[in-house]
Amino acid sequence: MPASVVAGNWKMNTTVSEAAALAAGIRDGAAAAGNVELVLCPPFVSLAAVRDAVKGSAVKVGAQNMHFQESGAFTGEVSPGMLKGLCDYVIIGHSERRQMFGETDESVNNKVKAAQAAGLKPILCVGESLEQREQGKASDVISGQIRAGLQGVSDASDLIVAYEPIWAIGTGQAATPEIAAEIMGAAIFETLRGIFSGAADNVPLLYGGSMNASNSGEFAAQDCIHGGLIGGAALQAEQFLAVAAAVAAAKA
Ligand code: PGA
Repeated sequence: MPASVVAGNWKMNTTVSEAAALAAGIRDGAAAAGNVELVLCPPFVSLAAVRDAVKGSAVKVGAQNMHFQESGAFTGEVSPGMLKGLCDYVIIGHSERRQMFGETDESVNNKVKAAQAAGLKPILCVGESLEQREQGKASDVISGQIRAGLQGVSDASDLIVAYEPIWAIGTGQAATPEIAAEIMGAAIFETLRGIFSGAADNVPLLYGGSMNASNSGEFAAQDCIHGGLIGGAALQAEQFLAVAAAVAAAKA
């Protein structure tokens, strides 16, 4: 069975000092998360402060994005090598980046490969829009994003996949555990199986989209859901820890 993981995507929130304080609060309560791996993904500018805040604890750090090139004339971008030593994980292909910042399946694929080459663990995000769901295309869209994002990737050992239906992100309208499980247990798992064979069985699959302390236990009760990628509810230590505790209880 894959590891249980609860990752906090802080998005464009928290100053450096707020990030350090939030990370310290999560570190201090991390025992509540049991065996669940906690990953904090602050803005780039706070990675060092968050890394320092969680030093010596089991809490891990992730970035929210990165460029796939190692260096060069890419104003405003951050390379895989620059993240080394600051974090272990990197979120790749979040729908906000796909929708607002021109992220494509091709750039997502380049980033996954670059992350792995640099020894960073990619959290690959996939998700359909409401329109695609209403047209009955959700499964195809998701399988397509997985196949394109993982083209040429042969190592599943450090990979995490997050299913985040766009219509559920930041809306307070989470998917139902059944809807999530339908996509994650079929479209995502079967596609990963097609790519990685048995190694797919150990890839943690996270649900994301309005996940909180009250619904995370129901999601994690599904066999094919191993944790969550949390936005809004990750911005308060107590709430984030409650999400992790509910996941830990469901997986115990
Ligand atoms: P949300 O965001 O929990 O605020 O819906 C999740 C995400 O975008 O990763």
